[in-house]
Amino acid sequence: MLMNMKDLLLVAYENKFAVGSFNVANSEFVKVVVSAAEEQKSPAILQIHPNEINLVTDEFVAYVREAASKSKVPFVIHLDHGATIDDITRSIRNGYTSVMMDASHLPFEENMALTKKAVELAHMVGVSVEGELGTIGSNEGSSEGGADEILYTNPDEAAIFVETTGIDTLAVAVGTSHGLYPETKDHSIKIDRLMKIHEKVNIPLVLHGGSDNPDEEIRQAVEHGIAKINLSTDMKRAFYNQLRATLDENPNAYEPDILMPEATKAAIELVKKKMDLFGSTGKASLYKLGEI
Ligand code: 13P
Repeated sequence: MLMNMKDLLLVAYENKFAVGSFNVANSEFVKVVVSAAEEQKSPAILQIHPNEINLVTDEFVAYVREAASKSKVPFVIHLDHGATIDDITRSIRNGYTSVMMDASHLPFEENMALTKKAVELAHMVGVSVEGELGTIGSNEGSSEGGADEILYTNPDEAAIFVETTGIDTLAVAVGTSHGLYPETKDHSIKIDRLMKIHEKVNIPLVLHGGSDNPDEEIRQAVEHGIAKINLSTDMKRAFYNQLRATLDENPNAYEPDILMPEATKAAIELVKKKMDLFGSTGKASLYKLGEI
C-alpha cells in the first residue's frame, strides 16, 4: 500500500514510534526493505537520493511503486535531499508520494522561500514535503552530502519556518551526520535541543544520519518528536560486507542468484532490528488496511 508522508507519519507521531526511511538504489535494497517490513508488519519509507536516481534512472521508480503498492504494509516513496525545484518536479512526475526540499545551506529567508515554493507545487498533487533547518554533518564515504560543521536547528526559527512554509515534516540538525563517525567526532544526539524544538513545532520531526548512533539515544529521540529516521550506511554496510565475504568464499562465482541472497539476508536482518529499535514493528495494523 502506497501513501503520502503526512498520513503515514501522523500515526507514528501520535503513537510515539518512528518509521525507518531507507535509501534504495537497486532492486536488492527494495527487496530488503519490503521483505523486512512485511516480516515485521511495519510501515516503511523507500527513499531515493538524487545521486541514486541518476545511477538507476527514472524507470526504476515504476519498479519501486509496483513493489510498494502491492504490499500489505504501508509505504511511502520519498525524495531524499532534493536540492532544486527540478528535483522536486522530476520526483513528482516519477510518482514519489513525498519529497524533501533541502535548502538548508541557504540563508534562512531564502531557505523558507524555496521550501515554500516546493510545498505549493507538491501539495497541489497530494505529495508531502520535508524541509530542513540547520545542517546535518557529513562523514567520509557517504554520498549523501552534508556540512563540515553542524549548524544546530534553532527552535524559535523552526517554529517560524514550519508556519511560513507549510511543510509536513521537518528535518532537524541535533548532532548527527551522514555515514560512519570517526572516533574523534562528537556525535551525541542533543536531546535537550530536540526537546525545545519539539515544544515549539507540532509536526513530525526527522532525524537524518540514523546510522552508527547508540540505540539508547535513538530511543530517546523517538520519545521527543522524531517520527522518521533516515538510515542508509548501516544497511548498505550489512549488505556489502556480506557480499565481500561471499565473493571471497566463491572466487569463481558470477551469477546474481548465487551471490546476492546471503547479502540480502544480512541486510534484511539489520533492517528488522532497526524497525524494532524505532518501535515500528507490529504497527502496520494501526493503518487499518485490512488483514496484514
Ligand atoms: P546514514 O547513511 O548515516 O544512515 O544517513 C542516511 C541519511 O540521513 C539519508 O538522508
